[in-house]
Amino acid sequence: MNDSKILNWPGWPVKNNPYGEDFDLAARKRMLAGSQMLFPFIQKYKKDLGNVILEVGPFFNPLITPKDFPNSKIFYWENDHHVIKYLKNSYPNKNVYPIYCDLNKIEGNSFLKLKLETQIFFKEFKLHKISFDSVVISHVFNYIDYKLFLMVLKDFIKKDGLLLINNVIDYGLPAFFSEKRPKSIPDTIKTIKKTGYNILEQKIFESPDKRHQKNNRLIVVARSNEK
Ligand SMILES: C[S@@+](CC[C@H](N)C(=O)[O-])C[C@H]1O[C@@H](n2cnc3c(N)ncnc32)[C@H](O)[C@@H]1O
Repeated sequence: MNDSKILNWPGWPVKNNPYGEDFDLAARKRMLAGSQMLFPFIQKYKKDLGNVILEVGPFFNPLITPKDFPNSKIFYWENDHHVIKYLKNSYPNKNVYPIYCDLNKIEGNSFLKLKLETQIFFKEFKLHKISFDSVVISHVFNYIDYKLFLMVLKDFIKKDGLLLINNVIDYGLPAFFSEKRPKSIPDTIKTIKKTGYNILEQKIFESPDKRHQKNNRLIVVARSNEK
């Protein structure tokens, strides 16, 4: 199959895509290549990622899949209905749980809905409380209030749970950027620490293509600490 077919995702057509250069075929390839920069870290910490893993905003190419994690329960939190449908069809496996949510609404009723929908499955696992062993979040911080998200996540990630972050400041689709996105690498690191995570590893990768991605990439592996 050629690239334009693979990258012609439901709801995000390549032809006449409304975001122009920001999301043409080349931009999609860059996004996937950037996302995959997290793979070596996922491999390195594989044994510690645990039985219940949350990937936030996987889009059509999750980094955590049943193929690599056949013994884990995999949750996806995602705000694109096309993606949810695609993931449900791609992984019709009872250990995969794609759940629709808008992480820009993590207060009040819509958050309660996400919590209840997620909790139903934890009850099936005979767990009374949502408690992810690890959380992976790649190329999502620019679209959300990431500080609030990290604070809220503390209630859902177990103590000592692993958090893997991949982000490039101001990179992605500006049409959807949040004003509360990270503004610099030092700020991101400070926020991760302040919201209750101990950093195990942080790596900065120089941008391979300054024209399309002027900032460097930050990858962080952290552990949720005592509240
Ligand atoms: C740029 S894509 C990242 C895809 C992939 N994880 C990667 O590393 O390239 C951003 C992802 O975050 C999701 N997303 C964006 N805003 C969101 C929000 N407010 N709540 C939940 N998911 C969101 C998008 O639907 C998409 O799946």
